[in-house]
Amino acid sequence: MKSSNEKRMEKIVSLCKRRGFVFPSSEIYGGLANSWDFGPLGVEIKNNIKQEWWKIFVRGRSDIVGLDSSIIMNPRVWEASGHLAGFSDPLIECKECHRRFRADHLIEDEVWNKEKDMLNEKRISELIEECPGCGKKRTFGMPRNFSLMLKTFLGPLEDDNDRVYLRPETAQGMFIDFKNLLGTSRKSIPFGVAQIGKAFRNEITPGNFIFRTREFEMMEIEYFIKPPKNDSDWEEVFEEWRRAMRDWIIHLGISLANINEFDVPKEELAHYSKKTIDFEYNFPFGVKELYGLAYRTDFDLKNHEENSGKNMKYRDISTGEEYWPHTIEPSFGLDRTFLAVLVESYREDEIRVFMKFPAWLAPVKVAVLPLVKNNSDLVVKAMKIYNNLKMRFTCEYDESGTIGRRYRRQDEIGTPLAITVDFDTLEDNKVTIRDRDTMEQVRVDLEGIETYLKEKLNA
Ligand code: GAP
Repeated sequence: MKSSNEKRMEKIVSLCKRRGFVFPSSEIYGGLANSWDFGPLGVEIKNNIKQEWWKIFVRGRSDIVGLDSSIIMNPRVWEASGHLAGFSDPLIECKECHRRFRADHLIEDEVWNKEKDMLNEKRISELIEECPGCGKKRTFGMPRNFSLMLKTFLGPLEDDNDRVYLRPETAQGMFIDFKNLLGTSRKSIPFGVAQIGKAFRNEITPGNFIFRTREFEMMEIEYFIKPPKNDSDWEEVFEEWRRAMRDWIIHLGISLANINEFDVPKEELAHYSKKTIDFEYNFPFGVKELYGLAYRTDFDLKNHEENSGKNMKYRDISTGEEYWPHTIEPSFGLDRTFLAVLVESYREDEIRVFMKFPAWLAPVKVAVLPLVKNNSDLVVKAMKIYNNLKMRFTCEYDESGTIGRRYRRQDEIGTPLAITVDFDTLEDNKVTIRDRDTMEQVRVDLEGIETYLKEKLNA
């Protein structure tokens, strides 16, 4: 028997496919496990999130500049960053069904953190009694470290000299370009760099729809500060970013009641982090990481200086002082943002399903609907309204099916406002505007329609 959360998740996945938010990738060839394509509505939402994030965190601030660095970089970047040595997950394989799992997901956190370096096969079989894949007892051997770095080759030889990696985080581009960014932006400490882009990880256990995939997008900021004299110096900036991340979450329409701020214990911190707060969201499949906020100290710039031999320090022109800035890193997964927004916005009642997206995030802002399609006067009028509005608001014109069915469809894709052109419109130049959330309808004069929509959509 499926739980209500499982059913809810299934309904969301099915709506995503039916309405063109997200499709399984490579479907005509039988798919590729855990790969997804974002359809016409999905790409609108993703673009809305990216643009809004950029507006708030880059254009809206005078202390942050943008960057778009390469996905494939010199492999020495990953030696210096510690990813080649340390970016791995403990993989454990069932000897019966040969399915692979993350050992740290099958063993309780507290036990794993205490015992992970002293495990033996006997202890493993006590800790993981039964394989979650085939249900057989005591089938696991010892965990092995499995690198999450996705590899490929540049050049014709495909040998070790040509081996390169697809970046597992956008962050490193912002560290290795630090001097160019400093020289060209003429910013002084404290300042930040922001980047949005793809990242790749050879995850052992991807899954839960778009929650954990091997190819995903990140929106990250590296915020550079003066080396702190004491903890309160960096903690103050860290707390400012924590508040900024909370504000962003609220702006997405996500209730903070569904967010848990998890202070990651020392033993679980990433190799570069002195402190990390995970913003966890209450997904239908459990409370899981949505975003991370980390204090990376001077780990990255210092290591890049040591490995490249290039000076990666900041020079304070007023004092002549030189130092490696420390970094606070707010990191936002785009695909997880998308999923959390879908989950949070999904509503169903006796008569309909609707997505209660904030207006700025909705893939279509305004639907334009002639009451019937077999009257050319109505169609021409509706088309004219659509053509006038479409460059100002993301609009959709729809004339097929009954008006009730068309409203239902717009509800399902989360369109905040629907304009209906009816026979009275031809007489009084007024249209009916229906609100998605309240289903209330008002008559609005076409003369003032742009102002009305702008106000309602906060656009
Ligand atoms: N630069 C810091 C960093 O990479 P992370 O916690 O490993 O930190 C940052 O990743 C964010 O990227 C996560 O909070 C999550 O939103 C997203 N993310 C990480 N792995 C992912 C995956 N396999 N699929 C989708 N999103 C992922």
